[in-house]
This record gives sequence, structure tokens and C-alpha cells, in this order.
Amino acid sequence: MSNRFTLCLALLLPLSALANPSAGSAARITSPDATIAVEVTTDNEGRASYRVSRAGRPVIADSRLGMLFADAPKFERNLAIVDQRTRRHDEAWELPWGERRQMRDHHNELRVTFAETSGAQRRFDVVFRVFDDGVGFRYDFPDQPELRRLAISEELTEFVVADAATAWWIPAFEWNREEYLYHRTPIEQIGDAQTPITLRTDDGLHLSIHEAALVDYSGMNLTRVDGRKLKAALTPGIGEAKVEVAAPFATPWRTIQVADRAGGLVESGLILNLNAPNALGDVSWIRPMKYVGIWWEMHLDRKTWASGPKHGATTAHAKRHIDFAAANGLGGVLVEGWNVGWDGEWFGNGETFSFTRAYPDFDLQEVTRYAREQGVMLIGHHETSGNAAHYEQQLDDAFDLYARLGVHAVKTGYVADAGQAKVRDAQGRLRYAWHEGQAMVRHHQRVVDAAAKRRIAVNPHEPVKDTGLRRTYPNLITREGARGMEFNAWGNPGNPPEHEATLVYTRLLAGPMDFTPGVFGMDTKSGEPMASTLAKQLALYVVIYSPLQMAADLLEHYEARPEAFQFIRDVPVDWEDTRAVAGEVGEYAVIARRARGGDDWYLGAVTDDSARNVEVPLDFLAPGRRYTAQIYRDGDNAGWRDDPHDLVIETRTVDAGDTLSIRLASAGGLAVRLVAL
Ligand code: NOJ
Ligand code: CA
Repeated sequence: MSNRFTLCLALLLPLSALANPSAGSAARITSPDATIAVEVTTDNEGRASYRVSRAGRPVIADSRLGMLFADAPKFERNLAIVDQRTRRHDEAWELPWGERRQMRDHHNELRVTFAETSGAQRRFDVVFRVFDDGVGFRYDFPDQPELRRLAISEELTEFVVADAATAWWIPAFEWNREEYLYHRTPIEQIGDAQTPITLRTDDGLHLSIHEAALVDYSGMNLTRVDGRKLKAALTPGIGEAKVEVAAPFATPWRTIQVADRAGGLVESGLILNLNAPNALGDVSWIRPMKYVGIWWEMHLDRKTWASGPKHGATTAHAKRHIDFAAANGLGGVLVEGWNVGWDGEWFGNGETFSFTRAYPDFDLQEVTRYAREQGVMLIGHHETSGNAAHYEQQLDDAFDLYARLGVHAVKTGYVADAGQAKVRDAQGRLRYAWHEGQAMVRHHQRVVDAAAKRRIAVNPHEPVKDTGLRRTYPNLITREGARGMEFNAWGNPGNPPEHEATLVYTRLLAGPMDFTPGVFGMDTKSGEPMASTLAKQLALYVVIYSPLQMAADLLEHYEARPEAFQFIRDVPVDWEDTRAVAGEVGEYAVIARRARGGDDWYLGAVTDDSARNVEVPLDFLAPGRRYTAQIYRDGDNAGWRDDPHDLVIETRTVDAGDTLSIRLASAGGLAVRLVAL
């Protein structure tokens, strides 16, 4: 099939009515529906700032713009607005795979040019794109004699939240990277936070501050300066500056999404719209799929990644998984621990790994041949222990091998403490790096490029946070980057009951997550109960979007519960449309999705520790059409501390006029398949 991206409509018109296209001390632009306005000003000392309002009420109060350089004077004062240009943009485009197919990029753009009023009179632009559901802006540095090379030591961007708000956030600059539990605090208790950060003002407005298109730059974190003022704090680099690039250069977009409902943030396409279009051409070879793997048993210590009597990745065990996948219509089998290097202390010691040599009890050729014969794909695994330098030496050989064997998806991993990834600098010296610093951003780009050349999709764990790059590189298919299911195996503590209902409105706003749901056995190493019911494990297939979606448990646990497993067999991983039907951050989430290329809908709901009734109006269904609802719900005795396995499966006939009224147990859930009749 040829390129599945379709450019349906593009409108690029001058927008002279929306702003005065001239110099001055201020510039203004509004969203296409005129509800969101951005104003840009300079004060009497020539300091630049912007503010955002919605329906006339401030959302972001006056917040500074600027940049510090390691080898040049800062951009922070003595600035004047010397030019401003506007344009409209309205374009329909398609996601080749995704949580929806149709996208609309409808925004008004304001490009403000600042120039220094003294000294070298250097210039830079700030480009604002204002959508009906939020704002993105970026710095754009032209090539100029006094600023050929940018050695950025800090970005001075501020976000002053106008109203009192509750924040959901994870700490930045801590050793466990993105794998932290979310804090829920007043905004005044934020310290250093990662993005996306979610805020709910006391008036009920929902905000998400994040970034889009993180390319050749360092990830942005937020530091609270005082009161409700948050300020960009870039992830450190490997040299004296946090970012080193050559002009002309545009930074990633800084984004502020705004919605009345929590679900409005989930439905927003702003992050993807701010990323560049598909750069890979024909991507019809990228296959969303469900997969099983030799995986959970290692996390429970029943098997090992390392060689020896408990080695998980044997040819026979892999074939058992391939048979299971083939019998149940699952596309992939992940095998971890197949390659030499896992013996001894692999954590943080990536130089031991070979990405081409298998352990003797794992016949890679035979396993891939057998998989092919069964219509199943082996999903490759490259754990690097954060040693990107070592991995890069083998990258081409490793991907050539996979391409030869028909392995078209690979899970990568960067298990090392924050700040302990390893890269080589321009002089070839080994440097310790942060997972989200510029050097690792560049590394991941090299991996994605090398993979794309061989038609391989990549699923990084311990990754750089998602900023919507899947639009540009659709083979960057999913990633981890939060506390996933693995924490329920060995976490101390495991994930709490509200974890998934928090992720929906925080981490998942950034993009797909390889959370690895579907644990029926509920085993934990500590023996503490897992904060889930069986119905919730099914619900996660709808609630958490990922085009590679694992059925994470041991096969025997699925074989013991074929009725519940039927939902995993049926649920798609690629969608025509997505609706965030109801929910509150960290409390509950109800998500409905329509199967890609089909009429059937799927519904998932999860709740926190509180049992609750959810009322789900089925008005998203096609009007006048009847559907069989296959309902997987918590039984009367269900609850994560009581009886997690109490599951009721029942069938009803419904239509768009009906409302489902269902009780979710404590840490419970609901999964529904709505089959069009
Ligand atoms: C951490 C990943 O999140 C997990 O899925 C993987 O099994 C281990 N690293 C080993 O690579
Ligand atoms: Ca992990």
C-alpha cells in the first residue's frame, strides 16, 4: 500500500485581521474560535513576556520569555518587538495508526520578532500557535553573525498559573527517571516536576503543561520559583551547556492545553498537531499488535534473564509462546534474555551485552522461522542498561540481523539511574548523561532512523518522554516512561489503586504507553495484594492506549480463565475514534474507542480505591443501530483486597439511547465490547 497519510485540506492564509502586523510593544492573537487569547509584551526594561486567557479570564499570567547562553550574553532584557506576522492554518490529516484516524490542525499563528535594543542587536522569534484547546510556542533563532552556535545554559520560559490549582506531578532529576508515583498537591507544593504536569484550578479548569517535538534539545522540566510561578529547567547536557546546536534552530514547542473537563485533555490533538508530518513515507508496514512474552516470570523471579537452570529464553519456551499467540490471534511474542550479556550484574553495566549473539539454548533462526510459519512475529529486545555508546557500536549489525529474520519491532531498554546513561561526546570521550538530555535525545533519534531504514518499529523503555514524535516517525510506535505493571511484581510499594486513573490524565496525555496490562494471576513478590480486580485488568486495554499492547501474564493464567481472556483476544489495538466519556484526574476514567476500520465500540472504565457507580450514556454509538454489549464487570464481592477475581460476564442489547449503569469495585473496572448488529 502507498503512503497512508492523506493531506485532505490545507489553508494557509494571512491573518492580518487578528493582529497588527507591525512593530510595537505588544502583539496579540486569538484561537480560531476566539476563546483563547495570547498577548505578548515587553516591559520598560525590555523584558519579554506572554500571557494566556480563555473567555476573557486569565489562565497564564504574565510569564517571562528568554534564554541564557554559556558563551554569549543572555536574551532577557533590552528587547523590543520589531516585527509580528500572523497566519491561519486549517488542515485535515490522518494518523496511519492511532487512537483516532482523523486529525484537524486548526490554529492561528503569531510570529513575534524580538531584537536587542543595545549591544549586538541580535534577534530571535517566538512563534505562538493558538488552538481552540490550547497554545504552543517555540523559540526560533535565525542564523546571525553574533549567534552562529547556541550554547544554551538555561531556558528562561515561565508559566505563571493565574488561579489556585491542584497539581498532579512527578519529581524531576531523581534517580528513578520517570518511574515515580504522582503527587497530588496544591500548586504551591510543587518542587522540581517533570512534564506533562496536570493542573485543575479551583474553578475546575484543567491544564496540562508539556512540550511537543523534542528534537535535538534537552527535555524540559519545571521548577517552582515561588507562588504559582513555574519555570523551565532543562535536563543537563554532557558539556558546560545544556543544549548545543547551530543556528538556525527552533526549540521544541512549549505547550499549554486547556479544557473544562479532564477528558478534554485526553481528546486534544494539540501535541500531535505541533509535530512535523510523517517523514518516513510509506509506513503501511508498521503493524499495531497485541503480544505475549517471556517476561512477567522474570519479574516474579520464576525465570531469569541470565543463563542457567532458570533461563527463560529457551527455544522451547519461545515456541510455546508462539503457539499460544497463534492460537489466540495475537501478533507478537517478546523474548527477553535471549542475547548474551545478562549474566552477572547487568543493571547499569551495558558493555556486557551483545545484540547479535544468542545464548546457546536459544536458537534465534529456528524461533523466527517457527514464528513465521505460525503467522506470528518475534518482537526483538535490546536492553542497553543505559549504555547508548556501546549499543550504537552494534546498532547496524543488530538491526540488520532482525531485518533478515523478519523481526519488525524491537523493545529497547535503558535501565540505569538518571544521569548514568553513557554516551560519547564529539571527541569520542565517554560521558555520563541524563536520560532526557540532548545527547540521549540524539541517541534515540539515531535508533529510530536506523530502525526505520530496516522497517523496524521501536518501543523504548526508560525512554525520553513522549512529545508526539510518532507523527513524524510512526515507527516510534510506543514507549514506557512511567511506572508500568512491572511495579506490581516487585515494587515496594506497588502501583496504588488510583495509579491508572492518574496516568490517563497525566503521562498518557503525552502519547501511547507500553504499560503491559492483563495480569490475571495478581501475583506479587511481596505477597501484598495487587491494587486491581480482574475486570480492571481487562479495562486497561481500552483505557490505556498503546499500538503494541502486551498480554503480560503467564500463559497458564490465561489458559485457566478463557472466558475473561476472550476480551483480550477481541480488543483491537488500532482505533478510528476515541472519546473520554467521563472521569476525574486520579479518581476514575471512562474511555470509549471505535475499532479502526469497523463499527464496533469498546469501553473501558477504571476507578481508584473508591467503589463507584458509573453512568455511561452510549450516545457515541451510531444512531438507530443496535449493538450486542458483551460486559465484563466486577462481581458483587469484587474488590482488590477482597476478591479480585470476582468477574461477571453478561450480554445485553443496547443502542445509542441507552445508558449503562455499572458498579466498579474498589480498584475495579469495566470492559465492554459493543458489537454492531
Ligand atoms: C525494564 C523494563 O521496563 C522491563 O520491561 C524489562 O523487562 C527490564 N527493564 C529488562 O530489560
Ligand atoms: Ca521500566
